[in-house]
This record gives sequence, C-alpha cells and structure tokens, in this order.
Amino acid sequence: KEKLIIAIDGPSGAGKSTLSKALAKQFDYLNIDTGAMYRSVALLVQQQGIALDDEGALQELCKDLSIRFIRHQDSEQVIVNGVDVSAQIRTPEVSLLTAKVAASQVVREAMVKQQREMGAEGGVVLEGRDIGTVVFPDAEVKFFLQATAEERGRRRYEELMAKGSDVNLEQTIIEVKARDAADMARTHAPLTQAEDAVVIDSTRLSIAEVLDEMSTIVRKKQ
Ligand code: C5P
Repeated sequence: KEKLIIAIDGPSGAGKSTLSKALAKQFDYLNIDTGAMYRSVALLVQQQGIALDDEGALQELCKDLSIRFIRHQDSEQVIVNGVDVSAQIRTPEVSLLTAKVAASQVVREAMVKQQREMGAEGGVVLEGRDIGTVVFPDAEVKFFLQATAEERGRRRYEELMAKGSDVNLEQTIIEVKARDAADMARTHAPLTQAEDAVVIDSTRLSIAEVLDEMSTIVRKKQ
C-alpha cells in the first residue's frame, strides 16, 4: 500500500500539530487538524450565541459547515464557510469553549463523518484525540504523542508569549491540566490511547528526533 491513513492522537501541547504538519509535508499527504474543526464549531457557537444544550441548533450549524485547510510554506490556514478563522480559533476563550462543544454527541457525529470522508482515499495524516480509536480504528499507522503536563504547559506558554500575549506560566499549566481532565472525562469519545498505537513521549525529545522516529515507522508500513 502506498497511500496510508496516519492517526496521531494525544493531549494538547504534546506536539501533534507540529509533527503532523511535518509528517504530511514529508510524505506529501493531506494534513487534517481535527482540533481546528472542533474549534471552528466553537467559534460559530460563540458568534451565534447558541446554547450548548440546543441540539437542534448545533445540528443545523454542523450540517452547513464547510471547513477547508490550506497549506502554505510554513503555516496553515483554516477557512470556515469561506472565512479565514485561523487566528480567531486559537484564543484562550475559544479553547475553553471547544472542550465543551466537543463533548456534544451531535457535534462529534457530524465532525467524524466529515473526517472519514476527507480521509477515505488515504494519503492523510489526521491529528486529534479519537482518530485511532473512533474515526479510523483501522488506520495503518497510529501514534499517541505524550509529554508531561508541565512541559506541555511550558510549550504553550512560549507559543503565546511569542505571539505577544500577556500570559503566566503557572496559569497556562493549570489550563492544560483542566483541558486534559475535560477531554479524558467526557462520555463520548474521551481521550484514550488505542491499544495498537505507538506511544512516543516527547518531553525530552526535539521535534527532529520525534519526526525521525515517526517517519521511520511510516516508511516500514508503506
Ligand atoms: O488539538 P486542539 O487543542 O486544537 O483541540 C482542541 C479541543 O478540541 C480539544 O481540547 C478537545 O476537546 C477537542 N478535540 C476533540 N476531538 C478531536 C480533536 C479535538 O474532542 N479529535
């Protein structure tokens, strides 16, 4: 087989985004950032003032939702219903709302359906929380990226600082832990490791080292 489905799951800040983009580039695959899809739904929920328990409204919203990813040299654009929302979906407010929106079964069903359609032909790297367990349980390659909460908080903090945000390291670590807890505790598709996933702890590894380990595994499966 040549065009594989590669699943990358793990908690926030473990390096999923960076590594799935790098891996997709290396193999010339499409990179699907499923977190950005849930973030996009959350942004629209916020903008339209939809109540989280209004399943009908959530269903309507997801039904008409068009999400596209545009890859640039070293960045990626997320286009929702024709609008570039790349920056808006990354604010702390939207991050917090996303974990709540992602707990809705209606929203998950709609997103999983879109993800399966986008990935059906293979030649894709999907990153998220439930790719290897729910979306593509038969994916040829599954990774589970891990790192300590302190290290993940530190990475997020530096990212936000670089963007000029006024943030505090301890608070950022607390937020990372809160989001982990919400992602693991929810009833529908909680964050869990697939039994057949290759687990990589990136706490003490550089991006290049992790990428190297991952691409070696992908090449063996091709
Ligand atoms: O990966 P990212 O931090 O962008 O994901 C944002 C949120 O979206 C996560 O905290 C999680 O609640 C949700 N999510 C999910 N399932 C996925 C991807 C993301 O529930 N496959």
